[in-house]
Amino acid sequence: MTIPETLRWDGDSLVLLDQTRLPGELCWVTCTTPAETAEAIRAMVVRGAPAIGVAAAWGMALAAREARALAREPALAHLAAAAQALTAARPTAVNLAWAVARLLAHASGTAGDGAVLAEALVHEARQLHDTDVATNRAIGQAGLAVVPDGSRVLTHCNAGALATAGYGTAVGVLRAAHEAGRRLHVWVDETRPYWQGARLTAWELVQLGIPATLITDGMAAHFMARGAIDRVVVGADRIAANGDTANKIGTYGLAVLAAAHGIPFYVAAPRSTLDPVLPTGADIPIEERPEEELTHVGGRRLAAEGVGVANPSFDVTPGRLIAGIITEVGVLRPPFAPALQAALSASSASYTAT
Ligand code: MRU
Repeated sequence: MTIPETLRWDGDSLVLLDQTRLPGELCWVTCTTPAETAEAIRAMVVRGAPAIGVAAAWGMALAAREARALAREPALAHLAAAAQALTAARPTAVNLAWAVARLLAHASGTAGDGAVLAEALVHEARQLHDTDVATNRAIGQAGLAVVPDGSRVLTHCNAGALATAGYGTAVGVLRAAHEAGRRLHVWVDETRPYWQGARLTAWELVQLGIPATLITDGMAAHFMARGAIDRVVVGADRIAANGDTANKIGTYGLAVLAAAHGIPFYVAAPRSTLDPVLPTGADIPIEERPEEELTHVGGRRLAAEGVGVANPSFDVTPGRLIAGIITEVGVLRPPFAPALQAALSASSASYTAT
Protein backbone atom coordinates (compact mmCIF):
# COMPACT_ATOMS: atom_id res chain seq x y z
CA MET A 1 0.00 0.00 0.00
CA THR A 2 1.18 3.53 -0.70
CA ILE A 3 0.76 6.52 1.59
CA PRO A 4 -2.40 8.48 0.64
CA GLU A 5 -2.05 12.17 -0.19
CA THR A 6 -1.97 14.41 2.89
CA LEU A 7 -4.05 17.07 1.16
CA ARG A 8 -5.48 17.79 -2.27
CA TRP A 9 -7.43 20.51 -4.05
CA ASP A 10 -10.52 19.14 -5.79
CA GLY A 11 -11.27 22.28 -7.81
CA ASP A 12 -13.63 23.85 -5.27
CA SER A 13 -12.42 22.70 -1.87
CA LEU A 14 -9.47 21.44 0.13
CA VAL A 15 -9.59 17.74 1.02
CA LEU A 16 -7.49 16.69 4.03
CA LEU A 17 -6.58 13.17 5.10
CA ASP A 18 -7.81 13.11 8.73
CA GLN A 19 -4.61 12.43 10.68
CA THR A 20 -6.46 12.28 13.99
CA ARG A 21 -7.95 8.94 12.84
CA LEU A 22 -4.78 7.28 11.55
CA PRO A 23 -3.67 4.58 11.40
CA GLY A 24 -6.95 2.87 12.25
CA GLU A 25 -9.18 4.67 9.77
CA LEU A 26 -8.62 6.29 6.42
CA CYS A 27 -11.05 9.20 6.14
CA TRP A 28 -11.03 12.72 4.74
CA VAL A 29 -12.24 16.14 5.87
CA THR A 30 -13.41 18.69 3.28
CA CYS A 31 -12.80 22.40 3.89
CA THR A 32 -14.74 24.91 1.81
CA THR A 33 -13.87 28.07 3.78
CA PRO A 34 -10.72 29.56 5.34
CA ALA A 35 -12.40 29.25 8.75
CA GLU A 36 -12.84 25.49 8.29
CA THR A 37 -9.23 25.24 7.15
CA ALA A 38 -7.98 27.11 10.22
CA GLU A 39 -10.04 24.84 12.46
CA ALA A 40 -8.65 21.69 10.76
CA ILE A 41 -5.11 22.98 11.36
CA ARG A 42 -5.86 23.79 15.01
CA ALA A 43 -7.46 20.38 15.57
CA MET A 44 -4.48 18.59 13.93
CA VAL A 45 -6.55 17.02 11.15
CA VAL A 46 -3.55 18.22 9.17
CA ARG A 47 -0.28 18.73 11.05
CA GLY A 48 3.46 18.98 10.46
CA ALA A 49 5.10 22.30 9.59
CA PRO A 50 5.19 22.10 5.76
CA ALA A 51 1.72 20.49 5.56
CA ILE A 52 0.05 23.21 7.61
CA GLY A 53 1.80 25.80 5.44
CA VAL A 54 0.40 24.24 2.26
CA ALA A 55 -3.05 23.79 3.85
CA ALA A 56 -3.05 27.46 4.86
CA ALA A 57 -2.11 28.46 1.31
CA TRP A 58 -5.20 26.61 0.09
CA GLY A 59 -7.15 28.30 2.91
CA MET A 60 -6.11 31.64 1.39
CA ALA A 61 -7.27 30.42 -2.04
CA LEU A 62 -10.64 29.55 -0.44
CA ALA A 63 -10.79 33.05 1.07
CA ALA A 64 -10.15 34.55 -2.36
CA ARG A 65 -12.97 32.47 -3.81
CA GLU A 66 -15.29 33.78 -1.09
CA ALA A 67 -14.34 37.30 -2.23
CA ARG A 68 -14.79 36.59 -5.95
CA ALA A 69 -17.72 38.98 -6.42
CA LEU A 70 -16.03 41.86 -4.55
CA ALA A 71 -14.10 44.83 -5.89
CA ARG A 72 -10.34 44.85 -5.30
CA GLU A 73 -10.11 46.71 -1.97
CA PRO A 74 -12.84 44.77 -0.10
CA ALA A 75 -11.43 41.53 -1.55
CA LEU A 76 -7.96 42.39 -0.19
CA ALA A 77 -9.48 43.25 3.20
CA HIS A 78 -11.23 39.87 3.24
CA LEU A 79 -7.92 38.15 2.47
CA ALA A 80 -6.14 40.04 5.25
CA ALA A 81 -8.74 38.87 7.78
CA ALA A 82 -8.45 35.26 6.60
CA ALA A 83 -4.65 35.51 6.79
CA GLN A 84 -4.87 36.55 10.42
CA ALA A 85 -7.19 33.67 11.36
CA LEU A 86 -5.09 31.08 9.53
CA THR A 87 -1.80 32.30 11.02
CA ALA A 88 -3.26 32.18 14.53
CA ALA A 89 -4.30 28.52 14.19
CA ARG A 90 -0.90 27.24 15.37
CA PRO A 91 1.95 29.53 16.46
CA THR A 92 5.23 27.57 16.40
CA ALA A 93 5.74 26.33 12.83
CA VAL A 94 6.87 29.34 10.81
CA ASN A 95 5.87 27.63 7.54
CA LEU A 96 2.27 28.56 8.31
CA ALA A 97 2.92 32.32 8.59
CA TRP A 98 5.39 32.10 5.70
CA ALA A 99 2.84 30.50 3.34
CA VAL A 100 0.03 32.89 4.31
CA ALA A 101 2.31 35.92 3.86
CA ARG A 102 3.37 34.64 0.45
CA LEU A 103 -0.25 34.28 -0.72
CA LEU A 104 -1.13 37.71 0.67
CA ALA A 105 1.86 39.30 -1.08
CA HIS A 106 0.86 37.56 -4.30
CA ALA A 107 -2.63 39.05 -4.01
CA SER A 108 -1.23 42.55 -3.36
CA GLY A 109 1.06 42.22 -6.35
CA THR A 110 -1.72 41.08 -8.71
CA ALA A 111 -3.73 43.82 -10.41
CA GLY A 112 -7.46 43.17 -10.63
CA ASP A 113 -10.74 42.64 -8.79
CA GLY A 114 -11.91 39.74 -6.61
CA ALA A 115 -12.46 37.41 -9.57
CA VAL A 116 -8.89 37.93 -10.81
CA LEU A 117 -7.47 37.48 -7.30
CA ALA A 118 -9.41 34.23 -6.81
CA GLU A 119 -7.83 32.72 -9.90
CA ALA A 120 -4.37 34.03 -9.03
CA LEU A 121 -4.45 32.60 -5.49
CA VAL A 122 -5.55 29.14 -6.58
CA HIS A 123 -2.63 29.18 -9.01
CA GLU A 124 -0.17 30.34 -6.32
CA ALA A 125 -1.37 27.74 -3.79
CA ARG A 126 -0.92 25.03 -6.42
CA GLN A 127 2.62 26.29 -7.03
CA LEU A 128 3.45 26.20 -3.32
CA HIS A 129 1.92 22.72 -2.99
CA ASP A 130 3.93 21.26 -5.88
CA THR A 131 7.13 23.01 -4.80
CA ASP A 132 6.86 21.44 -1.36
CA VAL A 133 6.96 17.92 -2.78
CA ALA A 134 9.93 18.76 -5.04
CA THR A 135 11.71 20.42 -2.11
CA ASN A 136 11.28 17.34 0.06
CA ARG A 137 12.72 15.11 -2.65
CA ALA A 138 15.74 17.44 -2.84
CA ILE A 139 16.13 17.25 0.97
CA GLY A 140 16.09 13.47 0.64
CA GLN A 141 18.88 13.57 -1.94
CA ALA A 142 20.96 15.99 0.17
CA GLY A 143 20.47 13.71 3.18
CA LEU A 144 22.18 10.80 1.42
CA ALA A 145 25.43 12.44 2.55
CA VAL A 146 24.66 11.69 6.20
CA VAL A 147 22.87 8.32 6.04
CA PRO A 148 25.35 5.73 4.79
CA ASP A 149 24.61 2.06 4.17
CA GLY A 150 23.89 0.24 7.45
CA SER A 151 22.74 3.34 9.38
CA ARG A 152 20.69 2.85 12.53
CA VAL A 153 18.68 6.04 12.81
CA LEU A 154 16.43 7.37 15.55
CA THR A 155 13.62 9.74 14.55
CA HIS A 156 11.06 11.59 16.63
CA CYS A 157 7.48 12.71 15.92
CA ASN A 158 6.39 12.51 12.27
CA ALA A 159 8.34 14.39 9.64
CA GLY A 160 7.15 12.14 6.84
CA ALA A 161 4.85 12.41 3.84
CA LEU A 162 1.94 13.08 6.20
CA ALA A 163 3.70 16.15 7.64
CA THR A 164 4.19 17.64 4.17
CA ALA A 165 2.46 17.82 0.79
CA GLY A 166 4.32 14.58 0.03
CA TYR A 167 7.53 12.54 0.56
CA GLY A 168 8.56 14.04 3.92
CA THR A 169 11.63 15.76 5.34
CA ALA A 170 13.37 13.64 8.03
CA VAL A 171 11.50 10.52 6.88
CA GLY A 172 12.15 11.71 3.29
CA VAL A 173 15.89 11.42 4.03
CA LEU A 174 15.38 7.84 5.24
CA ARG A 175 13.17 7.13 2.28
CA ALA A 176 15.78 8.41 -0.19
CA ALA A 177 18.46 6.24 1.46
CA HIS A 178 16.14 3.21 1.27
CA GLU A 179 15.32 3.95 -2.39
CA ALA A 180 19.07 4.23 -3.07
CA GLY A 181 19.41 0.63 -1.89
CA ARG A 182 21.02 1.41 1.47
CA ARG A 183 20.22 -0.88 4.37
CA LEU A 184 18.88 0.94 7.39
CA HIS A 185 17.08 0.39 10.60
CA VAL A 186 14.87 3.12 12.02
CA TRP A 187 14.11 3.55 15.71
CA VAL A 188 10.77 5.34 16.09
CA ASP A 189 10.01 7.31 19.25
CA GLU A 190 6.31 6.91 20.04
CA THR A 191 6.27 10.71 20.73
CA ARG A 192 4.14 11.47 23.73
CA PRO A 193 1.69 12.94 24.28
CA TYR A 194 0.14 12.89 20.80
CA TRP A 195 1.74 9.68 19.49
CA GLN A 196 2.81 11.01 16.07
CA GLY A 197 5.66 8.46 16.05
CA ALA A 198 3.57 5.44 17.01
CA ARG A 199 0.54 6.39 14.91
CA LEU A 200 2.04 8.10 11.86
CA THR A 201 5.78 7.48 11.40
CA ALA A 202 5.49 3.78 12.27
CA TRP A 203 2.64 3.49 9.76
CA GLU A 204 4.53 5.30 7.01
CA LEU A 205 7.64 3.15 7.49
CA VAL A 206 5.57 -0.04 7.36
CA GLN A 207 3.95 1.15 4.10
CA LEU A 208 7.40 1.94 2.68
CA GLY A 209 8.92 -1.38 3.73
CA ILE A 210 11.67 0.29 5.79
CA PRO A 211 12.66 -1.85 8.81
CA ALA A 212 11.62 -0.03 11.98
CA THR A 213 11.28 -0.57 15.71
CA LEU A 214 8.91 1.44 17.89
CA ILE A 215 10.17 2.51 21.32
CA THR A 216 8.85 4.77 24.08
CA ASP A 217 10.53 8.18 24.24
CA GLY A 218 12.22 7.19 27.51
CA MET A 219 14.01 4.22 25.90
CA ALA A 220 16.25 6.30 23.62
CA ALA A 221 19.08 6.62 26.17
CA HIS A 222 19.07 2.86 26.78
CA PHE A 223 19.45 2.03 23.10
CA MET A 224 22.06 4.75 22.53
CA ALA A 225 24.13 3.41 25.43
CA ARG A 226 23.99 -0.05 23.87
CA GLY A 227 25.29 1.25 20.56
CA ALA A 228 22.06 0.45 18.72
CA ILE A 229 21.61 4.01 17.38
CA ASP A 230 24.32 5.77 15.35
CA ARG A 231 22.53 8.94 14.20
CA VAL A 232 19.40 10.98 14.89
CA VAL A 233 17.40 12.68 12.14
CA VAL A 234 14.39 14.85 13.04
CA GLY A 235 12.26 17.54 11.39
CA ALA A 236 11.80 21.15 12.47
CA ASP A 237 9.04 23.70 12.98
CA ARG A 238 11.18 26.83 13.11
CA ILE A 239 14.93 27.44 12.90
CA ALA A 240 16.34 30.71 14.25
CA ALA A 241 19.25 32.57 12.62
CA ASN A 242 21.82 30.83 14.85
CA GLY A 243 20.51 27.31 14.14
CA ASP A 244 18.44 26.94 17.34
CA THR A 245 15.62 24.63 16.28
CA ALA A 246 12.06 24.23 17.54
CA ASN A 247 10.63 20.77 16.98
CA LYS A 248 8.26 18.37 18.73
CA ILE A 249 8.59 18.26 22.51
CA GLY A 250 11.27 15.72 23.44
CA THR A 251 13.61 16.66 20.58
CA TYR A 252 15.89 18.74 22.83
CA GLY A 253 16.26 15.83 25.25
CA LEU A 254 17.27 13.56 22.37
CA ALA A 255 19.90 16.06 21.24
CA VAL A 256 21.39 16.15 24.74
CA LEU A 257 21.42 12.35 24.84
CA ALA A 258 22.99 12.16 21.39
CA ALA A 259 25.75 14.56 22.47
CA ALA A 260 26.38 12.48 25.62
CA HIS A 261 26.85 9.38 23.47
CA GLY A 262 28.85 11.02 20.66
CA ILE A 263 26.03 10.44 18.14
CA PRO A 264 25.50 13.03 15.36
CA PHE A 265 22.17 14.83 15.51
CA TYR A 266 20.67 16.10 12.23
CA VAL A 267 17.69 18.30 11.46
CA ALA A 268 15.97 18.02 8.06
CA ALA A 269 13.88 20.99 6.93
CA PRO A 270 13.03 23.13 3.91
CA ARG A 271 14.23 26.74 3.80
CA SER A 272 10.64 27.81 4.48
CA THR A 273 11.26 26.61 8.08
CA LEU A 274 14.11 29.11 8.55
CA ASP A 275 13.23 32.25 10.46
CA PRO A 276 16.25 34.55 10.11
CA VAL A 277 14.36 37.40 11.78
CA LEU A 278 14.77 35.64 15.15
CA PRO A 279 18.42 35.80 16.30
CA THR A 280 18.04 32.80 18.66
CA GLY A 281 15.47 30.18 19.61
CA ALA A 282 14.58 32.03 22.82
CA ASP A 283 11.97 34.06 20.92
CA ILE A 284 10.24 31.14 19.19
CA PRO A 285 6.62 30.99 20.40
CA ILE A 286 5.86 27.60 21.93
CA GLU A 287 2.35 26.27 21.51
CA GLU A 288 0.60 24.99 24.64
CA ARG A 289 -1.85 22.20 23.75
CA PRO A 290 -4.96 21.03 25.67
CA GLU A 291 -4.27 19.10 28.86
CA GLU A 292 -6.50 16.20 27.74
CA GLU A 293 -3.67 15.15 25.40
CA LEU A 294 -1.77 14.10 28.54
CA THR A 295 -4.49 13.07 30.90
CA HIS A 296 -6.49 10.94 28.46
CA VAL A 297 -5.62 8.13 26.06
CA GLY A 298 -8.21 7.14 23.47
CA GLY A 299 -10.83 9.26 25.23
CA ARG A 300 -10.28 7.51 28.60
CA ARG A 301 -8.78 9.38 31.55
CA LEU A 302 -5.58 7.76 32.89
CA ALA A 303 -4.14 10.59 35.00
CA ALA A 304 -5.25 11.17 38.57
CA GLU A 305 -8.01 13.78 38.86
CA GLY A 306 -6.83 17.08 40.30
CA VAL A 307 -3.19 16.96 39.15
CA GLY A 308 -1.78 20.01 37.33
CA VAL A 309 -0.73 19.52 33.70
CA ALA A 310 1.79 21.24 31.42
CA ASN A 311 1.66 20.47 27.71
CA PRO A 312 4.15 22.50 25.64
CA SER A 313 4.00 20.99 22.16
CA PHE A 314 7.54 21.93 21.12
CA ASP A 315 10.98 22.54 22.60
CA VAL A 316 14.08 24.28 21.30
CA THR A 317 17.32 22.44 20.59
CA PRO A 318 20.36 24.74 20.73
CA GLY A 319 22.23 24.96 17.42
CA ARG A 320 25.43 23.85 19.16
CA LEU A 321 23.96 20.35 19.57
CA ILE A 322 23.17 20.03 15.85
CA ALA A 323 25.72 18.43 13.49
CA GLY A 324 23.95 19.51 10.31
CA ILE A 325 20.72 20.95 8.90
CA ILE A 326 19.64 19.04 5.80
CA THR A 327 17.91 21.41 3.37
CA GLU A 328 16.94 21.31 -0.30
CA VAL A 329 20.17 23.17 -1.09
CA GLY A 330 22.51 20.87 0.82
CA VAL A 331 23.55 19.98 4.37
CA LEU A 332 24.33 23.16 6.32
CA ARG A 333 27.15 22.84 8.85
CA PRO A 334 28.09 24.97 11.87
CA PRO A 335 28.60 27.84 12.33
CA PHE A 336 24.96 28.08 11.33
CA ALA A 337 24.52 31.88 11.17
CA PRO A 338 26.55 32.30 7.94
CA ALA A 339 25.46 28.91 6.57
CA LEU A 340 21.76 29.82 6.95
CA GLN A 341 22.32 33.22 5.36
CA ALA A 342 24.07 31.63 2.37
CA ALA A 343 21.32 29.01 2.00
CA LEU A 344 18.59 31.66 2.06
CA SER A 345 20.23 33.77 -0.62
CA ALA A 346 21.16 30.81 -2.84
CA SER A 347 19.14 29.68 -5.80
CA SER A 348 18.30 25.97 -5.46
CA ALA A 349 20.63 25.06 -8.29
CA SER A 350 23.67 27.02 -7.19
CA TYR A 351 24.18 26.13 -3.53
CA THR A 352 25.86 22.83 -2.81
CA ALA A 353 26.91 22.83 0.84
CA THR A 354 27.56 19.31 2.16
O1 MRU B 1 2.41 18.97 16.41
P1 MRU B 1 2.84 18.46 15.07
O2 MRU B 1 2.47 17.04 14.81
O3 MRU B 1 2.41 19.39 13.96
O4 MRU B 1 4.43 18.54 15.14
C1 MRU B 1 5.17 18.14 14.02
C2 MRU B 1 6.63 18.20 14.23
O5 MRU B 1 7.12 18.60 15.26
C3 MRU B 1 7.47 17.86 13.04
O6 MRU B 1 8.67 17.26 13.44
C4 MRU B 1 7.78 19.13 12.25
O7 MRU B 1 6.63 19.86 12.01
C5 MRU B 1 8.45 18.83 10.97
S1 MRU B 1 7.37 18.05 9.82
C6 MRU B 1 8.19 17.82 8.36
